[in-house]
Amino acid sequence: MLCEKFCIDINLGIIMLGIDIIEIKRIKRLIKNKNFLYRIFDEEEIFYCEKKSRKHEHYAARFAAKEAVWKALSGEYKIALKNIVVRNITNGKPVIVLKNTNIKKLKNLKIEVSLSHTKEYAVSVAMINEF
Ligand SMILES: CC(C)(COP(=O)(O)OP(=O)(O)OC[C@H]1O[C@@H](n2cnc3c(N)ncnc32)[C@H](O)[C@@H]1OP(=O)(O)O)[C@@H](O)C(=O)NCCC(=O)NCCS
Repeated sequence: MLCEKFCIDINLGIIMLGIDIIEIKRIKRLIKNKNFLYRIFDEEEIFYCEKKSRKHEHYAARFAAKEAVWKALSGEYKIALKNIVVRNITNGKPVIVLKNTNIKKLKNLKIEVSLSHTKEYAVSVAMINEF
């Protein structure tokens, strides 16, 4: 079992949850620093956010998603936030891709994520099913 506190053991396997909320103004400040920007987000995420009129909300939502996934994993695996990547499929639904990892166990995880953002806050919830 990966974590003890926040796991629900049901027939489908182990369910792990993570949640994060972030202030938009904090991310707005942080991404002015290009080192931070490129340390956290990959090129496609940057491309996605930069074409949006309220880009900071989209950056913040992605940051929250990365942290939510990290929390769901309980910090169990050494995976950098940059390698927890948010992609949007054709209908806009966000999906998580884990990049640059050869940790075999991570390939057995099904990750679901949901994002929401306003002018002030972005939130994300992640649910991971280990089977
Ligand atoms: C897609 C939709 C759910 C987004 O909701 P919203 O309140 O406008 O915006 P939120 O900030 O809560 O959510 C935005 C995030 O939803 C996610 N999202 C977009 N389409 C999605 C979909 N089809 N499924 C799941 N998540 C989706 C994205 O992650 C998006 O953020 P991102 O662009 O930064 O990745 C909404 O626009 C929609 O189409 N709702 C359908 C129901 C409807 O028609 N309601 C209106 C009745 S009056």
